[in-house]
Amino acid sequence: MNENCRSAGGSPADNVILALENIKKSYFVEGRRIDVLRGVDLEMREGERLSLTGKSGSGKSTLLNIMATLEKPDSGKLLLKGENPAKMPDSKLSAFRNREVGIVFQFHHLLPEFTALENVAIPLMLTQSKKSSLEKAEKMLERVGLSHRLNHKPAELSGGEQQRVAIARALVTEPALLLMDEPTGNLDNETGKMIIALILSIAEERNLTTLFVTHNQDFAAEMGRVIEISEGVVRNI
Ligand SMILES: Nc1ncnc2c1ncn2[C@@H]1O[C@H](COP(=O)(O)OP(=O)(O)OP(=O)(O)O)[C@@H](O)[C@H]1O
Ligand SMILES: [Mg+2]
Repeated sequence: MNENCRSAGGSPADNVILALENIKKSYFVEGRRIDVLRGVDLEMREGERLSLTGKSGSGKSTLLNIMATLEKPDSGKLLLKGENPAKMPDSKLSAFRNREVGIVFQFHHLLPEFTALENVAIPLMLTQSKKSSLEKAEKMLERVGLSHRLNHKPAELSGGEQQRVAIARALVTEPALLLMDEPTGNLDNETGKMIIALILSIAEERNLTTLFVTHNQDFAAEMGRVIEISEGVVRNI
């Protein structure tokens, strides 16, 4: 493990939620190989808040998708809460991901034909009754300040409201890890600030382990730790 990307304090095994070791990922396009991740080492501890920066095309979304267990690395080891998703059969992996990882995508993935309330309740309905799923979804939407928009469909919401629904959906299962890919990317600065403040306050009250990708240096600086990806590796900055 590259010492540079261990978080500060405590012994390395303490409360580590996510551990990546020598993660490599390449893509092949028209016979050409693109080495996107060339040996990423990273640890995140419980409650740690981290931002990930790097140039466009440097591999931020690729890394985030691997952390989210949505994509598999070509080599290297990933442990989430001490478990190795690479060893899980697909059915177990999707239940594990649904329970442990909250994801807010770079381009929001709300389901257009469902209301805000339904979008947030859907991840719970896989394991709970419809009634309790809707009740919990309503509480979560209340927490992100959207009690007055429960029955709006995504197209009837502003960009900032849509992003708050996506955050509520990511958090409703009470995941161990919250990953967000430029959650403020399509928002004006004022709305972006409001979203960051919301994420930070929820992260604090739940002791959530949180990582978000951002190009905005001011937003990055709000997080406990900032890492940068460049040339296929990450380092603390
Ligand atoms: N499925 C894919 N097939 C082939 N190449 C890919 C694929 N996904 C990503 N890439 C390439 O991998 C590199 C990293 O892409 P990635 O989306 O991770 O960058 P990023 O840092 O998130 O960029 P941005 O800031 O623009 O979102 C890019 O050069 C991209 O073209
Ligand atoms: Mg990206």
